[in-house]
Amino acid sequence: MSERFQLSNFDAVDWLRALPSASVDLVVTDPPYESLEKHRKVGTTTRLKNSKASSNEWFDIFPNARFPELFEEVYRVLANNSHFYMFCDAETMFHAKPLVEAAGFKFWKPIVWDKVAIGMGYHYRARYEFVLFFEKGKRKLNNLGIPDILTQKRVYRGYPTEKPIEIAKVLIEQSTEPGQLVIDPFMGSGSTGHAAMLCGRMFAGNDTCQEALKVARARLVETGGEEDRTLLCRGMKNERSPKQQALLFGR
Ligand SMILES: C[S@@+](CC[C@H](N)C(=O)[O-])C[C@H]1O[C@@H](n2cnc3c(N)ncnc32)[C@H](O)[C@@H]1O
Repeated sequence: MSERFQLSNFDAVDWLRALPSASVDLVVTDPPYESLEKHRKVGTTTRLKNSKASSNEWFDIFPNARFPELFEEVYRVLANNSHFYMFCDAETMFHAKPLVEAAGFKFWKPIVWDKVAIGMGYHYRARYEFVLFFEKGKRKLNNLGIPDILTQKRVYRGYPTEKPIEIAKVLIEQSTEPGQLVIDPFMGSGSTGHAAMLCGRMFAGNDTCQEALKVARARLVETGGEEDRTLLCRGMKNERSPKQQALLFGR
């Protein structure tokens, strides 16, 4: 059965450091980047108050200064000839793109997620977000007829900044084969994992927030996924440190 998953509760970079090199087929992630704080101040507080999963709190931000160590690890854990997708806004795109390239990736383009309706706040009101598309080595997309604008309504009253599974499904179907391993080091409510289960892929997710793990686990089980606490040990050598073992077996 391919629909297996493993969840962990660590800092994203620590977690990635415990994974074997070239052991992952696809990374799809949505880091809590610094400029989210700016969006939060411009009108998302009401939605956060209503969030089921957030306990009325915003999550921790991952500082831009930590991007180089993050991208270095994402590059290392990915198999050769694979893809990396990262959700972000325009401000973070300008900052992150050269750093992801410096880690060794080829940048292809930003894919636009068109959320159909405008968001809350003021100024030119937000209707889109980017998904940056990077490549390690060379991997052809599975369907060359998919446009670079993906239209899907945003998720209302979900986990803060929850992404629609329909978007993650497109990315997973484009860049993996059934049975392959997809990971998300900042998984939140587990949208990437949910989509992976629906597509018959394996999933390993991580988040520092306990509540996120609870929400994601319930979602993945409901979708028919089976938790497997040894999933990430594929390809591991025996000389694991106790810290690595704890990271890989999750909590
Ligand atoms: C933007 S949200 C992800 C939302 C997710 N895409 C979804 O659909 O629900 C970012 C997540 O990163 C987590 N986070 C913050 N700092 C982290 C860190 N250093 N390592 C791992 N996760 C972290 C937060 O708890 C939050 O759940």
